[in-house]
Amino acid sequence: MTIQLETERLLLRPMNEHDVEPHIDMMRDPKVAKFLTPGGAVRSRADEWRAAASVLGHWRIRGYGWFSVLEKQTGAWVGRVGPWMPEGWPGLECGWSIASGHWGKGYAPEAAMATIRWTFDRFPELSRIISVIEPENANSQAVARKIGETNTGESFVLWDMKLEIWAAERAKWLARFG
Ligand SMILES: CC(C)(COP(=O)(O)OP(=O)(O)OC[C@H]1O[C@@H](n2cnc3c(N)ncnc32)[C@H](O)[C@@H]1OP(=O)(O)O)[C@@H](O)C(=O)NCCC(=O)NCCS
Repeated sequence: MTIQLETERLLLRPMNEHDVEPHIDMMRDPKVAKFLTPGGAVRSRADEWRAAASVLGHWRIRGYGWFSVLEKQTGAWVGRVGPWMPEGWPGLECGWSIASGHWGKGYAPEAAMATIRWTFDRFPELSRIISVIEPENANSQAVARKIGETNTGESFVLWDMKLEIWAAERAKWLARFG
């Protein structure tokens, strides 16, 4: 079965082997790494290759995962957004990262809305979807607010980072956004 989502400006499809290089490039940009790694360190190509492999493996194991986000107009790969719950995660997350050359166009919220709708539809028992956000990551908090998430006051420790858990409750979200 082909999984593809479409929004006004974007096409989303499961991340695949052709997206590994643009994903590595995006993740090794210091602006992108800033709130994603301990101390904002840019990880080696080898580490990022393994991280990309785990994104592809997540789809294989769970049957869902991060979608590649493609600009409809140009076909450009601009980032990855969507459901994510590796072992030990505090819940089913909607995550987002966009290549810095495409920030500020509203792509993350546009893609996140589509993947949240898809995730709630796919998992009828799921009562809430979360996002795990570094407390200083204002850009990501802006996305969370735009898509109807609020800060729950809960936290999750990943490596040496204490992250905040934002969430959208299923019933409220569907009532608001349909
Ligand atoms: C967080 C992120 C996905 C937002 O993506 P986006 O498509 O730019 O989202 P938006 O266009 O809605 O912009 C979100 C906020 O980023 C800020 N922003 C916008 N353009 C920007 C730019 N060119 N440079 C810096 N910040 C910018 C603004 O504060 C904006 O909020 P506003 O629209 O209320 O002013 C993106 O900044 C990113 O990939 N960051 C690095 C990875 C990351 O931290 N991911 C989240 C992990 S929790």
